[in-house]
Amino acid sequence: MARPADPAARARQLRDAIDRANHRYHVLDEPEIPDAEYDALVRELEAIEAADPGLRTADSPTQRVGAKASEAFATVEHARPMLSLSNAFSEQEVRDFVARISAATGDAEPEFCTEPKLDGLAISLRYEDGLFVRGATRGDGASGEDVSANLRTVKAIPLRLRGAAPAVLEVRGEVYMTRAAFEDWNAKARAKGERTMANPRNGAAGSLRQLDSRITASRALSFYAYGLGVTEGWPVPERQSQVLAALRGIGFPVSPEVGTARGADGLLAYFERIGARRDALPYDIDGVVYKLDRIDQQEQLGYVSRAPRWALAHKYPAQEQTTTVEAIDVQVGRTGAITPIARLAPVGVAGVVVTNATLHNADQVARLDVRVGDTVIVRRAGDVIPEVAGVLLEARPLDARGAPRHPPFALPAQCPACGSDIVREEGEVAARCSGGLVCPAQRVQSLIHFASRRAMDIEGLGDRIVEDLVDLGFVRTVADFYALTQDDFLQMRRRADERDGTQPETARQGKVASKWADNLLGAIARSRDSTLERLLFALGIRDVGESTAKTLARQFGSLDAVMSADEGRLREVPDVGPVVAGRIASFFAEPHNRAVIAALRAAGLHWREGPPQANLAGPLVGKSVVLTGTLASLTRDEAGARLEALGAKVAGSVSKKTALVVAGEAAGSKLDKARDLGIEVWDEAALLAFLAQNE
Ligand code: IVH
Repeated sequence: MARPADPAARARQLRDAIDRANHRYHVLDEPEIPDAEYDALVRELEAIEAADPGLRTADSPTQRVGAKASEAFATVEHARPMLSLSNAFSEQEVRDFVARISAATGDAEPEFCTEPKLDGLAISLRYEDGLFVRGATRGDGASGEDVSANLRTVKAIPLRLRGAAPAVLEVRGEVYMTRAAFEDWNAKARAKGERTMANPRNGAAGSLRQLDSRITASRALSFYAYGLGVTEGWPVPERQSQVLAALRGIGFPVSPEVGTARGADGLLAYFERIGARRDALPYDIDGVVYKLDRIDQQEQLGYVSRAPRWALAHKYPAQEQTTTVEAIDVQVGRTGAITPIARLAPVGVAGVVVTNATLHNADQVARLDVRVGDTVIVRRAGDVIPEVAGVLLEARPLDARGAPRHPPFALPAQCPACGSDIVREEGEVAARCSGGLVCPAQRVQSLIHFASRRAMDIEGLGDRIVEDLVDLGFVRTVADFYALTQDDFLQMRRRADERDGTQPETARQGKVASKWADNLLGAIARSRDSTLERLLFALGIRDVGESTAKTLARQFGSLDAVMSADEGRLREVPDVGPVVAGRIASFFAEPHNRAVIAALRAAGLHWREGPPQANLAGPLVGKSVVLTGTLASLTRDEAGARLEALGAKVAGSVSKKTALVVAGEAAGSKLDKARDLGIEVWDEAALLAFLAQNE
């Protein structure tokens, strides 16, 4: 990397740019620059600081990377104790809480700040003169552990306050792990045969207590602020809701779910509203917190033992429960992957009765050492499949001699669906059924996948119906769905009822229910009109997920173009490596698959196709373009899409890698930067002329 003319100025510029990117990402939730660009900025700053360590400041983002192992954590006394919360599990307890507050304050409908109760780890962050100096865990509330080095690695925690430098400011909040980060971590751990984390909370706690902060840095931790410790020289707002807004203003992430509500009914409505969205939130919550909004009234109410009288945690049903394993079976997926499944004594987990939980793969079963009869912890969060998160070994049933009553689990040698051998390739985590197309389980699973919501979205065509359709010979390939008639469905149901010895109520009354069949036929008909990316995903090519399908659709534009691309051409597609390119090419080379596609076309299926967007021979291929300012004749999104169609990569910020900046009216710092770096700049007229010539 060339040395900049003024390294000190460049270092300052880079620090600001990195800070801004962090702030936009973690606080404003409006990411501006791609990860790769962010990493490049950090690397450039590291290089400058390495060449001249005098330029390294305490708040430099390079100081987030973590450092060597230390011996143990020092103890930190909390200048103001870190309290806990009283819990409520029922509506009545919430009403009682509000009544107590009304009585004490004389306010019939007191106002509360309402916040989600994140399931992570409470910490206290101390800033002096605007700079982060120390961070500690809650510990016993009076003193905790100094985990400053680890907290520095959490990018959501500002190292310097924005636009404020009070003598002392302590901010309290929760360090947590998003579900996506947790799932991602565990998927990688399972692939490497390493230990998994039981839940995001343990993940966050374990990461923060690492003695080597480089390990903490490698785990994606997040942070939300929810309160204050001691402050000196900072004007503390009058209300909790204003405190949160002020914290947001000086650079702390605050949950977007926070709000205010009046009276018990207002609180209960908030509880319901967040509860309805609980599964859709990106992190685990175990409840919501109500805090009397006026801080003078909080002070008036005070504390009982170690919890404030002015706050209440209202809890949701737990996302983890214990139950016992009745059996361990294996399931065959659409690609033949064998997944061990624990059959459980039914247990309610966060509002749903769970009877099956995934054990992921044989290594995971071995690592957990799950056996029949064991008491296990089942976790269900978000829309992920319930999983066995741990085993309570002390509860394992023993025989008379004190040995475990059941042996360790072993994978069967043959596929339960077709009897073909189960094989496990070198280096692969998943064992697979070698039966391919003869295996009915694989066929059923691939048909279910085709109909699923994110694929062709045929509502109502779920597991049971697809199994019956295949079992009774009505459907063999996905194209057969489109030839089904009402009569087929009714016959299928009749034969399935005969087979199962069931007699529906309507049949007993001498009627034939047919509305369900009409609904299904309607859903099938609607799926005839789809998009290329959905179709590519629905075909179930191994390792072609939604995002690869989308990229393929955009790059090639038509199914014919994808089908006729050779491996070399497929490898040019971003995210498609040699293995996936090989899988796509061999899928379309397979005559059975080509026949199914021809049959889908013949059945009247059509999918929207367009011109290939990232034209690999386009005039802007591989060029990074930045749009800034306001364009008069088209929106920035439109302009971006049209440039992308010509091969450009549209980026959010200007860097040395930027090839071109399109500047509309009132373009600001990006335009200045482009000029500084000597990057080509177009105005709107130049852009329109270029589009007219090249589209
Ligand atoms: S306030 C004086 N607000 O819940 C009140 N706590 O059960 C102190 N928590 O240790 C806590 N989200 O780890 C507060 N919005 C929120 C919270 C929250 C999660 C955790 C925190 C605390 C525990 C108390």
